Amino acid sequence: MSKIAAFYYTQSGQGLNILRSVCRPLEDAGHQVVYKAIVPETEFPFPWTADAFFQTFPESYGGVACSLRSIDLSDVEDAAQVIVEYPVWFLSPSIPTHGFFQTPAIRQFLKDKNIITIGNCRNMWVKAHTAVNEYITGCGGKPAGSIVLQDRHHNLISVITIVRWLIHGHKEKKGLFPAAGVSPEDIASAAVFGRIINEAILSGDFSGQLQQKLIQNGAIRYKPSIVFIEKTGYRIFGLWLKFILRKGDDDGKKRAFRLKLFKYYLFAVLYLVSPVGMVIFYLTYPFRYKTIQKDKRKQCYLLFFSMGHPKNKKLSGN
Ligand SMILES: Cc1cc2nc3c(=O)[nH]c(=O)nc-3n(C[C@H](O)[C@H](O)[C@H](O)COP(=O)(O)O)c2cc1C
Repeated sequence: MSKIAAFYYTQSGQGLNILRSVCRPLEDAGHQVVYKAIVPETEFPFPWTADAFFQTFPESYGGVACSLRSIDLSDVEDAAQVIVEYPVWFLSPSIPTHGFFQTPAIRQFLKDKNIITIGNCRNMWVKAHTAVNEYITGCGGKPAGSIVLQDRHHNLISVITIVRWLIHGHKEKKGLFPAAGVSPEDIASAAVFGRIINEAILSGDFSGQLQQKLIQNGAIRYKPSIVFIEKTGYRIFGLWLKFILRKGDDDGKKRAFRLKLFKYYLFAVLYLVSPVGMVIFYLTYPFRYKTIQKDKRKQCYLLFFSMGHPKNKKLSGN
């Protein structure tokens, strides 16, 4: 039986619930799962104030790590498998996730290990997923599987419920609005991924088969219209980052005004511009079809590109 090191950063507990659901079948099968929390030296608030929330944009997007409490690796040095759970912040890995992947001892630890990642987000995960896989390959780790759990409600609904949750602390359903976050059903059924990972551990096969089976069971849901918004948003975020950092990279008052402008921009774009963007997206869909299919394969099978996964293999199960 194997030892599995399972790292996570969570604010509300959602990330840990997902991780536990994935790991339960592994524990039932007799593997030892050692949970390791990623904890910032100075904790981020939860719920957030709007100002604190937007203050994290430059560092999240720019990949600037925060200091973390040191993670004791002595009891997982002999772990054969590693799982890393990460939340998405501003289309990027969260600041503590950047901290984790930039820690020299962690980078050394991840070298040559099979690493399975679990993204946890509202609905925009593509860029963070790419960044996390780049971190893994960058430290000599082997990306072995990718799972992404998200809120499956409509984009314009989940943007309201997530603000209610993250800023006001109310996650529950209210009136016409559903509960925020990944649904309890999706969290519970994430156990299926643990069973698939167990099969890979038993067979010792961490090649393309694992990711293929994960995808067939809904481990990654690629929604072209949301990816279109995300990619456009990501490019524009780069311009905002430059504009904000012209005021210095401290987290003080100097950049506060520009971050306020960014906040208004973000809400305006979500409510006013993105519905128009959607119409443009669907009108031009037939012309984009081939590019979308290519990108879908690249994102979902990202891992296998480096392993020579056949490019024209048709995706199934999404
Ligand atoms: C600062 C911040 C920025 C966020 N940005 C995004 C985002 O760009 N895309 C997305 O899908 N979710 C985003 N979210 C939602 C998080 O992914 C969500 O809070 C997380 O999945 C909750 O997990 P946790 O409570 O276990 O940390 C953001 C959350 C925070 C706190």
